[in-house]
Amino acid sequence: MRSPSACIAVGSRRAVRPKRNTEAMCGIVGYIGNREALPILLGGLETLEYRGYDSSGIAVCVKGGIEITRATGKLIELKKALAGRKVMSESRIGIGHTRWATHGRPTETNAHPHSAGRVSLIHNGIIENYLELRAELEREGCVFKSETDTEVAAHLLNRFLEQGFKPLEAMRLMCGEVRGSYAFLAIDAENPDRILVAKNSTPIILGRGEGENFIASDIPAILPHTRRIVILEDGDLAEVTADSLYIENRGSIVKRQEQTVSWDPITAQKGGFKHFMLKEIYDQARVLSDTLRSRFNEQEGSVQLPELEKLGAKAKEIKRVVLVACGTAWHACLEGKFFIESFARIPCEVDYASEFRYRTSLIDSDTLVIAVSQSGETLDTLGALECASGKGLTLAVCNVVGASICRKADMVLYTHAGPEISVASTKAFTTQLVALELLALYLAERRGTMSTDERRKVLQSLVHLPSAVAQTLRVDAAVAAAAKQLASVRDFLFLGRGTCYPIALEGALKLKEISYIHAEGYPAGEMKHGPIALIDERMPVVMILQREKQLFEKSLSNLKEVEARGARVVVVTDASPEQALGVTPEATIHVPFVSSELSPLLLNIPLQLLAYHVAVMNGTDVDLPRNLAKSVTVE
Ligand code: F6R
Repeated sequence: MRSPSACIAVGSRRAVRPKRNTEAMCGIVGYIGNREALPILLGGLETLEYRGYDSSGIAVCVKGGIEITRATGKLIELKKALAGRKVMSESRIGIGHTRWATHGRPTETNAHPHSAGRVSLIHNGIIENYLELRAELEREGCVFKSETDTEVAAHLLNRFLEQGFKPLEAMRLMCGEVRGSYAFLAIDAENPDRILVAKNSTPIILGRGEGENFIASDIPAILPHTRRIVILEDGDLAEVTADSLYIENRGSIVKRQEQTVSWDPITAQKGGFKHFMLKEIYDQARVLSDTLRSRFNEQEGSVQLPELEKLGAKAKEIKRVVLVACGTAWHACLEGKFFIESFARIPCEVDYASEFRYRTSLIDSDTLVIAVSQSGETLDTLGALECASGKGLTLAVCNVVGASICRKADMVLYTHAGPEISVASTKAFTTQLVALELLALYLAERRGTMSTDERRKVLQSLVHLPSAVAQTLRVDAAVAAAAKQLASVRDFLFLGRGTCYPIALEGALKLKEISYIHAEGYPAGEMKHGPIALIDERMPVVMILQREKQLFEKSLSNLKEVEARGARVVVVTDASPEQALGVTPEATIHVPFVSSELSPLLLNIPLQLLAYHVAVMNGTDVDLPRNLAKSVTVE
């Protein structure tokens, strides 16, 4: 890192302990032009509210400097805080942010914009080397006010500007120092005629107007003002003035195609997808990277979860694990049992939270109780956790920072799926699987139940997961075609063995909750002990067939039994397309094979799509299915 000639210290001198603070799901809006910036920024942030957030803030250029207002909670709190600030209402250039904390507390000090000297900056993404940068900047005299990774970027940018670099050069130098993903927007009190933008792995768009320009993380935020959009690419730096958009990449000017968006505002919120559920299914490749990011060292075969320090110290003493949850999260627990038993060699039980809390639960100090929940507010899961608290060690695996379950548990492992809006859980489930796999590896390392090589192998496969998910999503059209053939059927049976049995349960649950078609998941080997009596040409069977040798052959035998009884069969498999199945299913959906641990996750994706397409064909309210709520806060 270059040494700064000056680093302007801001804020109090109280030491703040840095924490990892990842903000991949936040909303960003920027405006520069001839109108008052504040209503445009607030309007844009309001449009992004659907993404979920826990704090917000706005910075605008005013005569002689920059004014910032931030607030925790909903935008109404920010509006209240802005009410008396006439000085801000006159500005014609500003940046706004809604923060959805995925790590680190949702406080006003952690809310964006962050400032350093003459600079004010907002950020979506993660600065992976922020601890090193922060330590170095602190040694050089910079004083940090927040716990965020973002604040290092503000200090660095301010430093380069103070060294005399031109604004975009300073931005380029700052981006050269940080490692990770980002969309940055910055304003400089000494150049109040421009907004600086940088992008790497986190989306950001520019919107072109007449005598005004806009910047946003998502199209809906600026749709009321312009439909002329320029999408920035990784490595792009932009300088946006009221009349011009200058874009460069690696030092050369680039021209990015202007596009005209025809979406209505609601379609735009859904990222162009017809439903939030479909968007969230497609989100999975990206959010799984968020679940994994910065949590392991592949070379060392090691998992780093500093938030589980307490568990790490006690890992060898744990004699039993009890996983509790409801619905889809309960299915994730069933997969978690496989991971924990095979990696960490600890006996595991999985219980419905609603059952566990009313049984005599034998929890002692050597028991680890894990409550898994997307919302963190499910009453039964909270109740189960309360039963265990004070008896054993408790851990919440949760998606929503600061939710009730997180506050109750001794430790929290966040899944980083981002806000899940559709009632039917999709990306929350897959991120729960990965979080539980990381947890099992973490325990295995500390208990010495897996060699470094074995752990490294599992981690190597996790590295390939986001791209394998992206590849899996290509089955969408084939699944839609199968759904068309089956949409009018009234009953479905989903079969799977081993780690694919929970996937059969999840596939059936997804179908029933959004299409209202009766569906059951069953262990394939149990079929002949009863359900086989149901099988005929009116009962289609979805077989989840993993390539793992022993189970593959056994599942094929079950498939033959089903076919012999006239059932219509859909096979979802990670076996290679060349591999003979010996049956002729109505449809065969192939997903890529990465590792046997990751097969269930990938095989689940076509089932999410199947439920989705069948529901659409039946005309149900996909995102808000009847009788269901996103978080169940009653018994
Ligand atoms: C199914 C679904 C529900 C939830 C369950 C638990 O698609 O969404 O079954 O999984 O209500 O909710 P959380 O995970 O919020 O505790």
